[in-house]
Amino acid sequence: MLQSALMNVMVKAARRAGRNLKRDLGEIENLQVSLKGPANFVSLADKRAEEMLYDDLSKARPGYGFIGEEGGSREGSDKSHTWIVDPLDGTTNFLHGIPQFAISIGLQREGVLIAGLIYNPANDELYTAERGKGAFLNDQRLRVAGRRQMNECVIACGLPHIGRGDHELSRREMTAIQEKVAGLRRFGAASLDLAFVAAGRLDGYWERNLQAWDMAAGILMIREAGGTVSGIQGNDDPLKTGHIVCGNEAIHRELVKILKPLEA
Ligand code: IPD
Ligand code: CA
Ligand code: CA
Repeated sequence: MLQSALMNVMVKAARRAGRNLKRDLGEIENLQVSLKGPANFVSLADKRAEEMLYDDLSKARPGYGFIGEEGGSREGSDKSHTWIVDPLDGTTNFLHGIPQFAISIGLQREGVLIAGLIYNPANDELYTAERGKGAFLNDQRLRVAGRRQMNECVIACGLPHIGRGDHELSRREMTAIQEKVAGLRRFGAASLDLAFVAAGRLDGYWERNLQAWDMAAGILMIREAGGTVSGIQGNDDPLKTGHIVCGNEAIHRELVKILKPLEA
């Protein structure tokens, strides 16, 4: 696969920050047993990863704006380009030594997603996509799954954390979906859930109350893999609502049909 100069920049930045996160994951195993636990350590690892990504990306593309989960928004002199970055998506997994977490980098030009990268340093899976050029897992071209029957599908969701979101609604959604599908999953890293849909591992996924950095890269990834992504209404923008539903066209439609009426 011939990689563009832009994607080269993104991959280099993600691999450098990823090497550190992987080292930190090893350290966490030692901290698990200590009384204080690894929470502070993880929060530092998270911030350090974002700084590294900011440094590398802004050195390679000076002036681009930067929205990161940890450091907030940093405006740049170039008003048409913005990086949207989650340096560590799946923090709870990471904190528990579960190797399902990722760096997620999206790039918008004039408000349109033009590039996305999702990288899990624990297993070295690198997902990349550029607008109009397809989506890839390492060197392999991605295509969403072709299943059209819900009872054959494996679907993932996200669950609101303690004290957040609407737990009652989330239980109603899970019950409704569970009754129709072959399997329901909760993996704990939204960016990888989206990447798994792009890769055809999952047939569909939905979650509420996400942030732009959880979704930006994954939305492009799924579209470039031939899938459909929207908010819960079926035709709204997940980056505006924070709610996301995706799959191939047929499964996306089925999921919207089930989830939309539950919202009221
Ligand atoms: C979280 C993960 C998780 C999702 C949460 C997100 P974080 O991101 O993506 O899967 O359910 O809502 O906030 O906090 O680990 O970066
Ligand atoms: Ca996140
Ligand atoms: Ca995060």
